[in-house]
Amino acid sequence: MTKSDVFYDLGCGRGQLCVVAVTEFGVKRAVGIELHRGRAEKAAANIEKLGLSDRVEIRNEDFMDSDLHDATIAYCGTYESEEDVSHFGSELAPGSRLVTLFLPFVGVIPTAADYPFYMMETPFKKTKDVSRWISSVLFRKATVGELLRELDTDREYRYDKRTLKQMMRNRFANRQVGFSRKWAPKGATTADPSRLPG
Ligand SMILES: C[S@@+](CC[C@H](N)C(=O)[O-])C[C@H]1O[C@@H](n2cnc3c(N)ncnc32)[C@H](O)[C@@H]1O
Repeated sequence: MTKSDVFYDLGCGRGQLCVVAVTEFGVKRAVGIELHRGRAEKAAANIEKLGLSDRVEIRNEDFMDSDLHDATIAYCGTYESEEDVSHFGSELAPGSRLVTLFLPFVGVIPTAADYPFYMMETPFKKTKDVSRWISSVLFRKATVGELLRELDTDREYRYDKRTLKQMMRNRFANRQVGFSRKWAPKGATTADPSRLPG
């Protein structure tokens, strides 16, 4: 992040990331969006106490209803929901960046990654090829089962496996060309997400 950035924290809690964005990265402006009224109030009070109200704005609203047009970089640490790709793909201005935690959006190729953070740039670069997406997540070829096992090793990441699998089934083509048997899910002849293990 640089001085010309406008940073949005989507689900900002008590606003700590906005404080860091402004004081340590020197961004032009930061906006924290928080649904929970008590947390939003605490965040706003904290920002005021720190004398940062001219550069940090806290909004008590659902980030799915927020105007994000001036964000150059946004962070969303909550789990992906089904509508996120189309929502953020259209709400964020072209050329802006969205950073997520633990995984990029399912089927979106990240432009940068520093685990557990993944950065995606708008317009999102999408793929229907599960193997290509997994390679962009793990930086190596792996099966869907291996990806899920890898996610299981992170104790901080208590993801909903059923939701993730369903998203993968919805986003990736069922039959894929060039997906080697060697690293296909056990028993599968292709990287067929309809045959996700477990
Ligand atoms: C784990 S906290 C993260 C706080 C902060 N981003 C950080 O990393 O320190 C996630 C916050 O997101 C908020 N949240 C979840 N869904 C939201 C939504 N749709 N709109 C606004 N806030 C939301 C929750 O209320 C919670 O305070």
